[in-house]
Amino acid sequence: MPTPSVAVRVVLTLAGLSLASAPSWGADAPAATASSVSETSFPAPTSAQLQAGAKVAQTCAACHGIDGNATSTEFPKLAGQHADYLVKQLHDYRIAKGAKHPARVNAIMNGMAATLTDAQIRDVALYYSRQTFKPGVAFADKKELKLGQAIWMAGIPDRAVPACVSCHGPGGAGMPSRYPRIGGQWQGYLEMELQMFRNDRRTNSPEMHDIASRMTDKQITAVAEYAAGLRAPSELPR
Ligand code: HEC
Ligand code: HEC
Repeated sequence: MPTPSVAVRVVLTLAGLSLASAPSWGADAPAATASSVSETSFPAPTSAQLQAGAKVAQTCAACHGIDGNATSTEFPKLAGQHADYLVKQLHDYRIAKGAKHPARVNAIMNGMAATLTDAQIRDVALYYSRQTFKPGVAFADKKELKLGQAIWMAGIPDRAVPACVSCHGPGGAGMPSRYPRIGGQWQGYLEMELQMFRNDRRTNSPEMHDIASRMTDKQITAVAEYAAGLRAPSELPR
C-alpha cells in the first residue's frame, strides 16, 4: 500500500524572498508592491454608502458571509478585495448591451447581478472591500507547493507563462484598480477560475485567458494551492 502523502499545513510568508529573479511581464507589468487590505482607487466611501452596501450584503451573506469571509470553499471570499475589481465582476456577470451571454458565466451570480442597480453594485463593493480579510492556509504536499511557488515567483519560462507575482504581488494582495487580491483565497475557487479562463467560460480577461491556456492541470492545481496559503505582508502574524 502506498504511503499517503502527508498534508502539511503551511502559512507561506515571503519575508526575505528576493523578487529580483522574477521576470517582468511586458512593459505594462508593475513592480511587485504590497498594498494594504482595504486600499481602493475609489474616494473614501461615505457612511451612507457603507450602510447601503451592508443592506445589499444581507442578500449575499448566505454564501459570501456578512463580513465577506465565506466559510464554504465553494464561495469566494470578498472581504478586503479591491472595490474596483468587485464592481467590474458584478458588471461582467450581467449581459452587456449587444452581447449574447455575460462575460462571466455563473448561473447564481448572473441572477444575483441582474437584480442590482449600478449604485447597489458600487455600495456593496465598497462595503465588502472594507471588511477585514481572513487569510487561508495551503494544504498540500511539499513537492506541489514547491512547484506552485516556482510558478508564482518565476512563471513557466518554457511555456511563456509570466510570474504571477509581477501582477498579483508578493503576498497575493494585488493592486487596487488593476489586479485582484488572490492570496489567501480558497484553493478550489482559484483552481476553478483558472480552468474557466482557460475554457473560455470566463471571458472577461484576455490576459488571464492567455496565461491559463498555457498551463497544465497539474500546474494550475499547484499554483492555486500556493496562492491559497499566501498572506499579504500587512497580514503576517507579528
Ligand atoms: C447562492 C450563493 C451566492 C449568493 C447569494 C451570492 N453569491 Fe456571489 N458568488 C457565488 C459563487 C458560486 C461565485 C463564484 C462564481 C464564478 O465562478 O464565477 C460568486 C462570485 C462572486 C463574485 C466574484 C468574486 C471574485 O473573486 O471574482 C462577486 C464579486 C460576488 N460573487 C458578489 C456577490 C454579491 C455582491 C452578492 C449579493 C448581492 C452575491 N455575490 C450573492 C455565490 C453566491
Ligand atoms: C499581466 C498581469 C497578470 C499576471 C502576470 C497574472 N495575472 Fe491573474 N489576473 C490579472 C487580472 C487583470 C485579473 C482580473 C481579471 C478580471 O477582470 O476578471 C486576474 C485574475 C486572476 C484570477 C481570478 C481571481 C478571482 O478572484 O476570481 C486568478 C485565479 C488569477 N488571476 C491567477 C493568476 C495566476 C495563478 C497567475 C500566474 C500563473 C496570474 N494570475 C498572473 C492579471 C494578471
